Amino acid sequence: MNKEVLIFSAMLLPWLVSAQQLRSLSPDIERRIDSLLQIMTIEEKLGQLNQVGPRWNSETEEPERSYQGDLVRRGRIGSFLYLVGAEATRKVQRIAVEESRLKIPLLFGHDVIHGFKTTFPIPLALSCSWNPELVESTARVAAVEATAGGINWTFAPMVDIARDPRWGRIAEGAGEDPYLGSVMAEAQVRGFQGTDLRQRDALLACAKHFAVYGGAESGRDYNTVDFSERTIRDVYLPPFKAAVEAGVGTLMSAFNEIGGVPSTGSKWLMTDVLREEWKFNGFVVSDYAAVEQLMNHGVASSREEAGVLALNAGMDMDMVDTIYTNELIATAKAGKLNIKAVDESVRRVLRVKFAIGLFDDPYRNCDTTIAAPVFMKKEHHALARRAAQESIVLLKNEKGILPLAKKLKTIAVLGPLADNRIEWCGPWAGRVEEGNFTSVLDAVRSKVESGTEVLFDKGCEVIGDSGYNPSLAVGFAKQSQVAVVVVGENANMSGEAASRSNIDLPGKQKDLVKAICETGTPVVLVLMNGRPLTIAWEAEHVAAIVEAWFLGVGSGNAVADVLFGDSNPSGKLSVTFPRIIGQIPIYYNHKNTGRPIREADKFTSKYLDVSNTPLYPFGFGLSYTTFEYSNLRLSSPEISMNQELMVRVDVTNTGKRDGDEIVQLYVRDNVGSVTRPVRELKGFEKTGLKAGEKKTVGFTLRPEDLAFHNIEMKQAAEPGKFTVYVGGSSVDGLETEFELK
Ligand code: NOJ
Repeated sequence: MNKEVLIFSAMLLPWLVSAQQLRSLSPDIERRIDSLLQIMTIEEKLGQLNQVGPRWNSETEEPERSYQGDLVRRGRIGSFLYLVGAEATRKVQRIAVEESRLKIPLLFGHDVIHGFKTTFPIPLALSCSWNPELVESTARVAAVEATAGGINWTFAPMVDIARDPRWGRIAEGAGEDPYLGSVMAEAQVRGFQGTDLRQRDALLACAKHFAVYGGAESGRDYNTVDFSERTIRDVYLPPFKAAVEAGVGTLMSAFNEIGGVPSTGSKWLMTDVLREEWKFNGFVVSDYAAVEQLMNHGVASSREEAGVLALNAGMDMDMVDTIYTNELIATAKAGKLNIKAVDESVRRVLRVKFAIGLFDDPYRNCDTTIAAPVFMKKEHHALARRAAQESIVLLKNEKGILPLAKKLKTIAVLGPLADNRIEWCGPWAGRVEEGNFTSVLDAVRSKVESGTEVLFDKGCEVIGDSGYNPSLAVGFAKQSQVAVVVVGENANMSGEAASRSNIDLPGKQKDLVKAICETGTPVVLVLMNGRPLTIAWEAEHVAAIVEAWFLGVGSGNAVADVLFGDSNPSGKLSVTFPRIIGQIPIYYNHKNTGRPIREADKFTSKYLDVSNTPLYPFGFGLSYTTFEYSNLRLSSPEISMNQELMVRVDVTNTGKRDGDEIVQLYVRDNVGSVTRPVRELKGFEKTGLKAGEKKTVGFTLRPEDLAFHNIEMKQAAEPGKFTVYVGGSSVDGLETEFELK
């Protein structure tokens, strides 16, 4: 069978609808904003730019509801953070629209990162599905649930590129690649916001953290960033631009500085790039207390100075500092505040409120009757299981030990995460309730045929030395035909403020794995983690590795589906796995250097003690079948600046099972006015192939896909020769060349 699959960017049409909603609102809305601005007092204006948080209970460290009704009544609050539940938001919205002078409705913001009630795989995991439609569907479900839960604004997607697995927040993004990151950013914006921002179940999205938060030095959260403008523009900004083009309503500034300028006070980022170059007309919110932190950065000596700096740079809404209301009202009254900047920021906030239809229906997310039937619907769970299956990456499968037979005499399911439920939801787990899903152990038990004995022991805890006692686990492994060992990180070991200087398996888990391996029983390692781990020893000694990340409520079942072959794994890494921590940062789209590695030559770019190659490269992932690539061909050996190039390749499923392959297109710009990466992802297609089936997969490359920031810092494609690679990972593939004239 030979079927042609062609990819056209025009297939991504529906999101344009949402994009246009904010880009071209009716002039009537701008007029209504004008009239409001004319009658607003300075207190009311700055009130719109003020997002308040909950009160923190110092004993429990939990947020407590705080309606701050008096401030809402006086028009001093534009938005609430973490106020959740339709009953709660109705209560305070009523005060805003019935008791305040101007009756301006409130926004209710919350972190809905990978699901609200139904928790989906963490974004890093989802990006390994390379399936934007799937990712869009998970964001849609999250929006449906969250909007039924009183919220109208999520602080997602996180679109930070991350090349350093020590950084805990790598879990929240789509990995290391600007192209894949952009596709995932667009998909999430489409999913959250839907096709019509005014629909009750459209959730206003927020692309964060603007910008280069993922570039934190030494992977330490909140740390300094100092990159060239070219790297920022070519690597870190594209997903933000993609989110803006997909119609995202808001952006969040980042905590970090870039080259001496904190993002939260960066006019270059928030005004020059975002508004002037990209024509973004939504608004920017600061990250949590980031305006006040301008003082810690050392660019402001008081809260007032910090507020003025942020506002003038284009920071519209202050998250929880209350500087804009508490300090800047007095600054304005003293005639020292740029009222034009205030008006612009208020306009942007009001524009978004109009765009989502909040003035027409302020209670759109405050209906207390709809939550129950919507939360955790059966279909949502089914989607979570499918998303989990597609997020799993099979890293090793020696002698085809997987999939396992369902009829075994004895199977050992071992390790501290085998019988765990809640950790599997990962960081930012939403409002998931334990008990609604299955552990790996339970899922294995329900999968095997009766008569198969399933033996379980933890062996150790995830962290620390206490509770380490491998003897039972080792004994069980000895009695079994196979040992499935489930190890990794706890949920709070990745996400915010969760950087690690050592990314080995924590605690005594490595010792446990070693002890089990010594039994000689084949070991299938199931990893649960929010970042690449350094697992070189494990990779050498275990028979199979299933990278399962934090998969959410579908975890246990999806892992068992893969272990026993009910689902054929198709995920591919969206981030590189280093061999050892000293290789970090390590990423596939690196530069060639003036002295690229040559083993025989000492004076080339390499280490004395480890190879330059990663343990597992970007784009890598195994299947239970095999795929062969052949007949790579181009529509022409050369194209001009206004022509497109068709790239086609034949892909054959050469194994005995049906499977999905993620066909990847990479390009190298052989010579440029500035140095260019050795490879850059320019397209991909996930395609299903029946056993023995052959398909032609096609990609369209346009000159603008080859553009980068050239020696003059202009984005342009340059004439010359390009190498094209098409294959199943960033280090494989057939190659050919073409010329751009
Ligand atoms: C701080 C985090 O950096 C950001 O991502 C999040 O949205 C805010 N806190 C609000 O929770």
